Amino acid sequence: MRVLGIETSCDETGVAIYDTEQGLVADALYSQVAMHAEYGGVVPELASRDHTRRLLPLIQQVLDAAGMRRDELDAIVYTAGPGLVGALMVGASTAHGMARALNVPVLGVHHMEGHLMAPMLEDCPPEFPFVALLVSGGHTQLVEVRGIGRYRLLGESVDDAAGEAFDKTAKMLGLAYPGGPEVARLAESGDPGRFRFPRPMTDRPGLDFSFSGLKTHTLTALRQLEQAGELDDQARADVARAFEEAVVDTLVIKCRRALDDTGLKRLVMAGGVSANERLRERLAREADKRKARVYYPRGRFCTDNGAMIALAGAQRLLAGERDEIGFMKAVPRWP
Ligand code: KG4
Ligand code: ZN
Repeated sequence: MRVLGIETSCDETGVAIYDTEQGLVADALYSQVAMHAEYGGVVPELASRDHTRRLLPLIQQVLDAAGMRRDELDAIVYTAGPGLVGALMVGASTAHGMARALNVPVLGVHHMEGHLMAPMLEDCPPEFPFVALLVSGGHTQLVEVRGIGRYRLLGESVDDAAGEAFDKTAKMLGLAYPGGPEVARLAESGDPGRFRFPRPMTDRPGLDFSFSGLKTHTLTALRQLEQAGELDDQARADVARAFEEAVVDTLVIKCRRALDDTGLKRLVMAGGVSANERLRERLAREADKRKARVYYPRGRFCTDNGAMIALAGAQRLLAGERDEIGFMKAVPRWP
């Protein structure tokens, strides 16, 4: 079955064709990051309009790359949520329109299930069951995964997501949007020994996270440095480093706990923050100690993309799921 996947939940237009026998056939991405950068965050109305402009040409580009005609597609899947409602509707209505014209099944999938399945796009995919750390701009969750749709939430953030904390810290440091990669870059020249920020909620049992206190701590540190006349480039880098160390350490402690609690030996990480090099290094070391293995998608499949949606949707189609014709789904809040 050859499945076209469409992702338009936020600020990336992603399209891919996934073959249930051969794997990923082609994919393309258009990022709106530069357009939103001057506003310091995603502007929903601009996002929807740009998806409308980019989506059909991108679909054609992917079909050309795969050497396929539109009528050779066997199904269409799209991100139905969570995300920005206007942006979601562009993908949903395009998917349903195409499915009706081509008379093929169509299915809306959960964006986070896409992230969760992204490591399966790689050559040595993880087998079920595994523990997944989902860390994106909107979510921070630990999930026990027994199979597609068989999830047990082990813990999640009670306030800000890890990526959101990175983005807000970047703003405080005067860095560009999206902040995660920028903070990580600045942290490279930071001294890890100068400041030590708290590791929230690690001193009590459980697998929940909290990152909003850390954000406040960062702001206070920056203000104090400024008042003392010490906020130079090095101090900024040292703060970025202390912040990154605190987030990474917190995530690592909870992953370790999740592996111990479940007794599982496979850890999958996905979502934008899983692109963070320091997090990858630390988790790899921890896994080694436990004879466990860490899996993550290649860099460009960590952040939003069409390939992960095509793959997740294909799995659900194989299980017999599909949308009712004429009933497209756009669900901005979808637990
Ligand atoms: O999964 P994603 O592309 O979109 C959502 O579904 O949210 O994740 C984007 C998030 C942003 O908050 C971004 O700052 C963060 O992932 N991010 C990073 C890195 N690359 C992206 N955070 C830390 N280090 C990185 N290298
Ligand atoms: Zn995402």
